[in-house]
Amino acid sequence: MDSHADKAGAAPKRQAVIYYLTGTGNSYRVASWMGDACRRHGVPARVIAIPHATPAEDLTPGDNQLLGLVTPTHGFTTPWLVLRFALGLPHGRGTRAFVTPTRAGAKFGPLFTPGMEGTAAYLLTLVLLLKGYNIRGVMGLDMPANWIVVHPGLSPVSAEAINARAATRVNFLMNRILAGERYLTGLLPLLLGLLILPVSVGYMLVGRFLLAKLFYASERCTGCGSCARACPAHAIRMWGANHPRPYWTFSCESCMRCMNFCPTQAVQASYPLAAALYFITTWPAGLILVNWLGRQWPPLARLGNPVTTVLVNYAYVLTATALTYLGFILLMRLPLVNRLFTAVTPTRYFRRYREPGTELKDIQ
Ligand SMILES: Cc1cc2nc3c(=O)[nH]c(=O)nc-3n(C[C@H](O)[C@H](O)[C@H](O)COP(=O)(O)O)c2cc1C
Ligand code: SF4
Ligand code: SF4
Repeated sequence: MDSHADKAGAAPKRQAVIYYLTGTGNSYRVASWMGDACRRHGVPARVIAIPHATPAEDLTPGDNQLLGLVTPTHGFTTPWLVLRFALGLPHGRGTRAFVTPTRAGAKFGPLFTPGMEGTAAYLLTLVLLLKGYNIRGVMGLDMPANWIVVHPGLSPVSAEAINARAATRVNFLMNRILAGERYLTGLLPLLLGLLILPVSVGYMLVGRFLLAKLFYASERCTGCGSCARACPAHAIRMWGANHPRPYWTFSCESCMRCMNFCPTQAVQASYPLAAALYFITTWPAGLILVNWLGRQWPPLARLGNPVTTVLVNYAYVLTATALTYLGFILLMRLPLVNRLFTAVTPTRYFRRYREPGTELKDIQ
């Protein structure tokens, strides 16, 4: 409809498109609140999951349009999937835009503790600025922490309390943006994020691949395939003819959806495997290989510079991780071994988390 208006020369009507990526529902909930706020202000809004987004059709760039990006924070920055999506957005032509990374809030008794978005907000902001968007709002937002690989899920009561505060913040932000004001926060997290930039770069280049390869299904797995269908990154393959089990590929973004929505709580992250991968991947294979090749054939000694060593090491880390994981998944098909590994894996005892009002069908 808007494109017809464009062709007739009339200004496209005001509208908002809010894109989100979500693992456990937090960012979806925030994006939904933002959509509701737009509608209360008389601005039609669409709230679209990034894996289903078609920006070339959803958006009519121009200053009557409002674009929102809502994302979880991963490794103190934005997940690769969201960064890639932002890089692929059409030129903004002055489209107004805002960015909200959700982050790991927690509650201990009466005390609320914040998460830290690091560079997540301003990395996306920079991409939007370079693409000609008019930045109207940047705000990190505490939602319940969801990284169940490293901690138990918050109780529903704590999660509700954190969400209530977050809803108030969202209304505050949207009221200002929709009133035409600009609201930019998060300079301190940005500064801290820049200080620990190597952590974020390490997470994006190595950490997320290692994390993907810690997942396995315990003996409680029924082979229903729900995790594979629900994965926003299409990172799970069902493997095995008689008793199919999930196999996690490198495309996994560690969004925690499979772990938290599995109907039998079968998805676990193996700590013993993490320890094994640590030793395997920190072995200086790149250096050893390059030196050995140099001794075998002296012209190859020229390879022994820091850049080639890092590249060879990177290839080694990914290959060794993939092969170790393959062996591990084969081992996990032996019921006794699987039970043994599961018994010593802390995630087996962790409460699962999902945004209290969110069902799988809302985000799938
Ligand atoms: C792998 C992973 C890494 C995370 N890293 C951070 C982080 O660096 N800082 C932070 O505040 N929260 C971090 N979190 C917490 C989530 O960003 C936060 O709980 C978010 O609201 C989850 O949103 P979602 O349910 O939409 O996926 C991390 C969560 C996961 C799963
Ligand atoms: S891990 Fe859970 S969701 Fe995935 S196939 Fe097994 S039972 Fe189904
Ligand atoms: S495999 Fe699981 S944790 Fe990884 S992206 Fe898919 S749903 Fe998220």
